[in-house]
Amino acid sequence: MNTILQVNDLVTKFYTVDGVINAVNGVTFELREGETLAIVGESGSGKSVTMMSILGLIPTPPGKVENGEAIFTSFGSSHDLLQLTPAELRNVRGGQIGFVFQDPISTLNPIMTIGEQISETLTRHLRISGEEARERTVKLLAQVGIPDPELRYKNYPFQFSGGMRQRVVIAIAIACTPQIIIADEPTTALDVTVQAQIVELFRNLRESLNVAIIWITHDLGVVAGLADRVLVMYGGRIAETASVDDLYERPQHPYTMGLLGALPRMDESDSKRLVSIKGTPPDLLIPLRHCPFAWRCDYAFDRCWEEVPPQIEISSHHKVSCFYDLEKGEPRDG
Ligand SMILES: Nc1ncnc2c1ncn2[C@@H]1O[C@H](COP(=O)(O)OP(=O)(O)OP(=O)(O)O)[C@@H](O)[C@H]1O
Ligand SMILES: [Mg+2]
Repeated sequence: MNTILQVNDLVTKFYTVDGVINAVNGVTFELREGETLAIVGESGSGKSVTMMSILGLIPTPPGKVENGEAIFTSFGSSHDLLQLTPAELRNVRGGQIGFVFQDPISTLNPIMTIGEQISETLTRHLRISGEEARERTVKLLAQVGIPDPELRYKNYPFQFSGGMRQRVVIAIAIACTPQIIIADEPTTALDVTVQAQIVELFRNLRESLNVAIIWITHDLGVVAGLADRVLVMYGGRIAETASVDDLYERPQHPYTMGLLGALPRMDESDSKRLVSIKGTPPDLLIPLRHCPFAWRCDYAFDRCWEEVPPQIEISSHHKVSCFYDLEKGEPRDG
């Protein structure tokens, strides 16, 4: 599979009155055509800032993307998204790259009808008439599972439930047949049943549109049924990346093990008990000079306090940033 997005050594900081927040500290990953990549990690690990940096949505100031590239390859030509002008980037956003954020209320305009908002996206990005945009909008509403799309076209956001509003945001994201959809915790504001429906909708879209999806979540449980690969973030770095099966069967990073241990298991009698990982997230005001997880790690040894671990390749689709070999029970060679 071809790589559609290659992110290299991304560094993003926030210059605040309290000091410099080292939010993203050298993130490198790739996204392949048509695959679903899940990004997991606890709150503050840099998941959203990574995606916002790529989409040019970091508020500057206080934020600044200080290093890196995000090479987007579409129809045979490649561009570094970090080098595009704001106008060029606006064209890509909502056009070739669609996005869905956590809170559909803040994404939708309360004083425009649902139909107008989707049509507007279409006419802004594609050279089509208002009438054609209207027809496509009705089809899009049907595609994301809104009943009576002709009637619903004329509704305002407040007339829709949370789940339906999120479906509308998804319709906007897919309107211009993007090659990538970035979904940042698209289900957290929704109740459990609706969450499951939205995950199911994404699964169907992935099949029907052959679109690559980046799915950001806290919830490793959702990941198993949806993603091809997983990227685990910790302290603004990538701790581990692997295919879903590999990650669940052979986690290589102590943090990933901790996350998997925190999953409620159906086969355990005491399934309500969640094991949380001891310790607190790293202080991002301190520049990273060693493994960000060392404070909380049972396996940390001298080297973990002296160097930032690079991504080590375990196999062609499995990389880990850790100096300790969990399988052998000893520090890695080299
Ligand atoms: N506008 C901002 N100003 C200052 N700091 C910010 C800003 N946006 C994000 N940060 C900081 O950057 C760090 C990474 O935040 P980010 O939103 O990427 O975390 P996340 O992994 O998406 O967490 P969550 O799971 O809670 O959404 C955090 O310490 C956060 O406080
Ligand atoms: Mg976030």
